[in-house]
Amino acid sequence: MKKDRRSFLRLAGAGGALCAAGATTAFAAPGEESGFLDLFAKRQSVRRYKSDPVPDEHLRLILDAARRPPTSGNQQPWKFLVVRNKATIERLRARCLQLYEANWPQDLPAAERAARRESAAKHLAGYFSAPAFVVVLTDSQSMYPSYNHHDGPLAAGYLCLAARALGYGTVYVTDAIPEQATREVLEIPERYERVCITPLGIPDGWPEPMPKKKLEEFVVFESFA
Ligand SMILES: Cc1cc2nc3c(=O)[nH]c(=O)nc-3n(C[C@H](O)[C@H](O)[C@H](O)COP(=O)(O)O)c2cc1C
Repeated sequence: MKKDRRSFLRLAGAGGALCAAGATTAFAAPGEESGFLDLFAKRQSVRRYKSDPVPDEHLRLILDAARRPPTSGNQQPWKFLVVRNKATIERLRARCLQLYEANWPQDLPAAERAARRESAAKHLAGYFSAPAFVVVLTDSQSMYPSYNHHDGPLAAGYLCLAARALGYGTVYVTDAIPEQATREVLEIPERYERVCITPLGIPDGWPEPMPKKKLEEFVVFESFA
């Protein structure tokens, strides 16, 4: 049976409705490769996007996959804040730039300040070329808040993979878009902690893959003895 990119999303649990509609499946017998493992190698951080919008149905599939990872005590402590409004995105970009500048020495010569501003604006323009953003948050009032730091990044990882399955790019952003900027502009209540923010959109070309360590460097069998 021919497998499509959505197969992974069903495996991630995204689509009771899609399964019911008789769509293809990524499930394979043990040892049989379903094709979906390719996704892990194909996910890459994307920092420049086309302006094409992300259709609602794609966004929904991606978010539905993001809510499927294991969580401590099944607490599912997330909020996914989706931002698509152009004016809001622009306000977020502008606030990032202000916060960058606030960290520079007060006594920077004007030329140096202008050069830094230009370089920062260029850096930010890549992320902010995306038509959508998702802020992954955890709720400090969840059942087991001390485990939120486990549960949060798992959702973000699933989200990035699901997006890749549908041909979209993401990048797990922390410092490049300061938390303070997202909190202020998006009026995020105190109780929610930001895990990351990711742009979401069609990549303006896939970047060169980042070098990865060899599998052997990570794996220890049986014990460290
Ligand atoms: C905890 C964490 C924080 C990150 N913060 C940023 C960031 O602030 N800006 C950015 O562009 N990428 C950020 N990244 C993405 C990494 O730079 C990227 O995953 C890494 O360079 C490997 O590249 P790859 O994702 O293409 O494999 C972050 C990733 C993680 C997991």
